[in-house]
Amino acid sequence: MRIYVDCDPGIDDAMALAYVTARPDVEVVGVGTVFGNNGIDVTTDNALRLLELYGRPEVPVARGAARPLAQPPRTAEHVHGRNGLGEVDLPAPAGAPVDHSAAEMLVRAARSAPGSLDVLALGPLTNLALALSLEPELPRLLRRVVVMGGAVRAPGNVTPWGEANVVNDPEAAEVVFAAGFDTVLVPLDVTMRTVATEAWLAELKTVAGRRAETAAGFLDFYAGWYSTVFGVRQCAMHDPLAAAVLLDEAVATEVVEVPVRVELRGEFTRGMTLADMRLNRDVGDGRPPVRLVGAADGEVFLARMLDALR
Ligand code: BDR
Ligand code: CA
Repeated sequence: MRIYVDCDPGIDDAMALAYVTARPDVEVVGVGTVFGNNGIDVTTDNALRLLELYGRPEVPVARGAARPLAQPPRTAEHVHGRNGLGEVDLPAPAGAPVDHSAAEMLVRAARSAPGSLDVLALGPLTNLALALSLEPELPRLLRRVVVMGGAVRAPGNVTPWGEANVVNDPEAAEVVFAAGFDTVLVPLDVTMRTVATEAWLAELKTVAGRRAETAAGFLDFYAGWYSTVFGVRQCAMHDPLAAAVLLDEAVATEVVEVPVRVELRGEFTRGMTLADMRLNRDVGDGRPPVRLVGAADGEVFLARMLDALR
């Protein structure tokens, strides 16, 4: 399987990179970075550091968008730490980003093997929207796009109704949801229910090795912040759950095909994801459906996540 990862590392992005790089049968053809959990300099530097940590220094990293299409950027140091990785210091990267943008790298990768590449999108969708403007045929050149983003029936996490990856660039998300990709959407509805429990975090601490020990450090910080949400030291695993669904769609145990839109004008609801859940399918307005994940097999996911860190 050949995959391209677009991300804003970010602690859970780091866990997703650990997940996909642990699989010898998965070729990561490139990693694009985007602003989001931190500014673009930090997320790009983190992507390089993480690929070195995970033994994949040869994977090209392309620096992507520094800001959303139509609003100022916002970051999340309170969730991910000032360095985006829970204040865990990783060695400075030996490598550097390639000389073209993340949007350009995605287009090149898609053109080089039409119909065979899967994209894992784990940050604001700015780079994907920019790639679409460079190559309008992108939905036919890619095999699948798995997006962590949105909150359909769940509350938001940045605004009462908005999830970070969508709220941080609503225009880009709207462009991507309208484009006709074969999209699998993994929203907060499922990621907030498929959490790394206190027991799982305790088990992680018993695993030796650099991957596991570093992850335990990241998640210690992350669970500290998430305890303000959950009341106990557990944490959401948004991005690695999307990775798990990409690598094995059976991890998603409930999926509906529905059109999804992003509210762009609401005074309070800008960035809200709206899924058309009506049962009569003859009422649509031509917007292509996405595959919206409503539930996942948390046990299988957490077991595989731990294996990936061993
Ligand atoms: C998403 O937002 C980011 O903070 C996380 O990395 C994840 O991709 C969750 O809303
Ligand atoms: Ca992310």
